[in-house]
Amino acid sequence: MAIILAIESSCDDTSAAIIRDGQVLSNCTNVQEAHRLYGGVVPEVASRQHLIHIVPIVNAAMQEAGVGFVDLSAIAFTKGPGLLGSLLVGVSFAKGLAATLGIKMIEVHHMHAHILSHFAGEQKPKFPFLCLTVSGGHTQIVLVKAYNHMEVLGTTIDDAAGEAFDKVGKMLGLPYPAGPLIDEYAARGRPVFEFAKPVIKDYDFSFSGFKTSVLYFLQKRVKEDEAFIAKNLNDLCSSIQTSIVEILMKKLKKAAEDTGIHEIAIAGGVAANSGLAVALRKSALEQSWNVYIPELQYCTDNAAMIGIAGYNKYLDGLFADMQITPDAKYAF
Ligand code: KG4
Ligand code: ZN
Repeated sequence: MAIILAIESSCDDTSAAIIRDGQVLSNCTNVQEAHRLYGGVVPEVASRQHLIHIVPIVNAAMQEAGVGFVDLSAIAFTKGPGLLGSLLVGVSFAKGLAATLGIKMIEVHHMHAHILSHFAGEQKPKFPFLCLTVSGGHTQIVLVKAYNHMEVLGTTIDDAAGEAFDKVGKMLGLPYPAGPLIDEYAARGRPVFEFAKPVIKDYDFSFSGFKTSVLYFLQKRVKEDEAFIAKNLNDLCSSIQTSIVEILMKKLKKAAEDTGIHEIAIAGGVAANSGLAVALRKSALEQSWNVYIPELQYCTDNAAMIGIAGYNKYLDGLFADMQITPDAKYAF
């Protein structure tokens, strides 16, 4: 039996989970509210918040799972990519605890973990599958051949999808993170406004042209009517969400067509978006796809996904040593 304590601290969520033989026993997360004031994640604030929350969150995860420190087989943690100060808290904590308990450590790539979050829930995709990973920091289409064997087919050349939601939301005066709010308002609106869509090669993405087009559109309309945003908030959100979803789905469809793969998964914070879920289910019917959307708790940053990725490395004997350091730009 393998009992793994997993720790995630790459950005602004402090999370700990216990995984027993690939099953999630607990998944506890502290979402840092302190960044709302600033309209984005402040790295220094994030690392200080991790320091405050890591011990209580680990204790909560252990307690909920009903396991003690002596029961642990290994500690999995996020090595990167992410904010260096934030990663440092999780890596240092894992090292200290592993040394004290005399157990193995497992380094996990944050984006591998987002993809493997599907194996934390009930509905598990079959290999090989395609995963559209859409978060605040990344947008990728990945061909997943096995737990520890993945290939990036396409990626964003500028902003990530979540970043596009958050930055455009900021233009509308919405607080950070704007993604969930845009989703909420979009449900009450219609996609009546058109914004620019990028023409980018292969499976890559770009959101900068779209963002600029929203900015110019808003500047022009607000000049004509100061209350334009307030009067049209729901339709603006619906139009923005529709555009971002269309940009994502176009490339996902192309990748599915070219590879002939019909097992299609989405992961990352933006996988919680209801417009994306609707578009994915529509394509599933049209293209005979089997689609997989993680439960909400496994979409946004969480330690359960780190534990699942860690467990599969544990089975393959892939361990880290005490010299391990965080890597903010950890290569896929
Ligand atoms: O994966 P995640 O929790 O953290 C990163 O690793 O980045 O993703 C956070 C991102 C934020 O940009 C947030 O606005 C976005 O996911 N997000 C959403 C929704 N829920 C979270 N975007 C659109 N619709 C949502 N429902
Ligand atoms: Zn993430």
